[in-house]
Amino acid sequence: MPRLPSSPRLSLDRRTLLRGALGAGLGAGLGAGIGALPAGAAEPGRVSFKSNPFTLGIASGDPAPDGFVLWTRLAPEPLKARGGMSAQPVDVTIEIADDPAMTRIVRTATETARLELAHSVHAEIEGLAPGRDYFYRFRAGDAESPVGRARTLPAPGDALAQIRFAAAGCQRWEDGYYTAWRAIADDQLDFVFHYGDYIYEYAHTDVTGRDKQPAPRTMPADFPACFTLTDYRRRYALYKTDADLQAAHASCPLLPSFDDHEVANNWAADSDPKHTPADAFLFRRAMALQAWYEHMPVRRAQLPHGPDVRAYRGFRYGSLIDVAVLDTRQYRSRQPCGDGFLAGCAEADAEGRSMLGAAQEQWLTERLAQSRATWQVLAQQVMFAQFDWRGFPFVKETNAPVVDLDTWNGATAGRERVLAMLQAASIANPVVLTGDLHRALALEIRRDWRDPASPCVGVEFLSTSISSIGDGPATEADRATMLRNNPHLKFFSDKRGYTRHVVTPKQWQADYRTVDSTATPGQPVRTAQTLRVEAGRPGLISG
Ligand SMILES: [Fe+2]
Repeated sequence: MPRLPSSPRLSLDRRTLLRGALGAGLGAGLGAGIGALPAGAAEPGRVSFKSNPFTLGIASGDPAPDGFVLWTRLAPEPLKARGGMSAQPVDVTIEIADDPAMTRIVRTATETARLELAHSVHAEIEGLAPGRDYFYRFRAGDAESPVGRARTLPAPGDALAQIRFAAAGCQRWEDGYYTAWRAIADDQLDFVFHYGDYIYEYAHTDVTGRDKQPAPRTMPADFPACFTLTDYRRRYALYKTDADLQAAHASCPLLPSFDDHEVANNWAADSDPKHTPADAFLFRRAMALQAWYEHMPVRRAQLPHGPDVRAYRGFRYGSLIDVAVLDTRQYRSRQPCGDGFLAGCAEADAEGRSMLGAAQEQWLTERLAQSRATWQVLAQQVMFAQFDWRGFPFVKETNAPVVDLDTWNGATAGRERVLAMLQAASIANPVVLTGDLHRALALEIRRDWRDPASPCVGVEFLSTSISSIGDGPATEADRATMLRNNPHLKFFSDKRGYTRHVVTPKQWQADYRTVDSTATPGQPVRTAQTLRVEAGRPGLISG
């Protein structure tokens, strides 16, 4: 087994060894993110697990044309502070094969899992062929993980016939079962975009939803609101024990992002709604984002530096789709007028307000200018289009439009700059992907949202929650009110589920998938509505 030289790209104290590079050959392996144990570092010892260390499942994510990230975390006792692990570093072997039976191994690598990062593994695999499936598993001691399916990005510029993916998020544990994740696993997709609220930071509760019914399932009673690194780690660990979630992650690569509840409800940059001093809040944010990193299949480029994570990044699916994953939390202006759903907040329209911050806006401008793909996707967290919430049950009666100030409606100048970017880059087919609201909406983005004759410049597909807010007492009256007050709204549903997107060079198809009930496991999942966009003709077509 050769000891390979250190790679300057590896800043962590970690080791990756190549062995048995059967199909690819050693030369390809040398280009495959291979590093060596730094001189003087302790040799990870052999371990023997009394119980399965892969209780949190496995995942692939952040693909490139020649590879992807493979993730797991060793946690034989997942809800314990250290996951049942000692401080000893542990070598984890990764096998990558051509076939699901793992008979044709094309690559083997070893990563060292360390307590500093909760014994998580983030193996950046390189040197593979573009646009195809690979299968993988992990070994630690004598324990072996299940087999997962990963997929490389297509070669740059490749003409693709079709890409199928899901947009999903908002999965509060107590609110219901992850039946939608099981359906996503069954779909065998190219990837999943997670728009955030992977965890909720709230304390243990016995009740759920709008009407405070008994929760379908509860967290252990010793789960307080998350403030410390241990709190956040235990929260991810609990959520990740779910078999349906594990099945979805094992089925295809994940493109993770985060929204507010990975840290704290409605946080914005260095502030939270409780007016915690910024220096104190940033310590909480640092711990929350470290736990996010430890549990997501993301690259070392996403390793936190203090409270900061570079979470905005792009993925090109040949010449068909460009996905820009955006971060609308770390750099945004604080919510205006004290946040909430309000009518008449002039501060929301102030010049200079932003959802992305200057550096991310510049990055997006350059990315859009360079892109040649048919469809340009802004994969992000909170509603982009204008929207009037008047008449919705929790909104005070008023004659003026009511806007949600935690969304782009609280920073309209930032939205105008993004619309100007799309126009300047002559983007014919912008598609905005969103979550956050625990409802499903499909919207046309219009210059004047109240005027159906105003030019449509793009579409927004807002996914409902996997489980958050539970089944609840949705009414047809709410839906009718929303449609009446928002002529650019083409679909509204109050059920749980996800959105499945099927994209070709000629059309974008969004299937709004809904779960009959999340109160019990295994309920049917169905397509409530399909909406289409024809390439070159922004606007939504039902059915
Ligand atoms: Fe949420």
